[in-house]
Amino acid sequence: MSQAAAGASGLPRHVAVIMDGNGRWAQRRALPRHLGHRAGAKAVRATVEGCARRGVEALTIFAFSSENWQRPPDEVTRLMELFVESIDREVDELHRNGICVRFIGDLSRLRAELGAKIAAAEARTAANRRMTLFIAVSYGGRWDIVEAARRLAARVVAGEIKAEAIDEALFADQLQLAGAPEPDLFIRTGGEQRISNFLLWHLAYTEPYFCDTLWPDFDDAELERRLGEHRREPVAQVVSRSHRRVAPGPDPGAQPCPAVVGG
Ligand code: FPP
Repeated sequence: MSQAAAGASGLPRHVAVIMDGNGRWAQRRALPRHLGHRAGAKAVRATVEGCARRGVEALTIFAFSSENWQRPPDEVTRLMELFVESIDREVDELHRNGICVRFIGDLSRLRAELGAKIAAAEARTAANRRMTLFIAVSYGGRWDIVEAARRLAARVVAGEIKAEAIDEALFADQLQLAGAPEPDLFIRTGGEQRISNFLLWHLAYTEPYFCDTLWPDFDDAELERRLGEHRREPVAQVVSRSHRRVAPGPDPGAQPCPAVVGG
């Protein structure tokens, strides 16, 4: 399916996911938590493949939140190692499959080795257009909004723009997902029904789907069911979506991977 056809067919253009439940998945098997995260990384692969195959234009996954820095140091270290390994293992195939990889979040907090791998993965896949995979690491929705405000304030102080010129579109352009279509489906696994400082600005109009499935068990069949239900959503919701104040993103078929904000 072409990317432009995705929105028209009712398939979400952009899916955003909180991948919760790795720890409990491990605990139920009497395994250490880090093995739950490893199993979670496998589920990421299946979801990336599933979304790309069906013609979803963008997938954003919450891999590590601003709050996750407070987890026990050993768990944080193992997660960072897993990110390094995953980049090493997956980027070639993502590239072969036409997927543009972008990391969003406060990357200045990451170790130099991981930062360098991220920069290389982004540069390598920058021209790919089939789907953009946004990986949120050290990300918080409030952080994103504060950073955007700071950048705009600096431009006002520098005399580049007037404060009155700041509107929703200009503000959104400063956020980490600038240029991407707004998420139209938000999935959270693991049983909790909250946004947990994920994409606070972007989820304003997004259809949420909360499920009890633990993230490592979230498979292609569940993705397919959820995408199918999204396609069949009531006409009233489709109409109200078409009246959003923020226009959908550009046709990605004609656009390269969105530029890095503040980069
Ligand atoms: C939440 O589960 C999950 C995380 C904090 C980490 C998510 C990371 C991955 C899925 C690893 C792979 C990511 C990439 C990009 C390769 P939890 O630990 O809070 O689970 P719990 O609620 O059961 O304790």
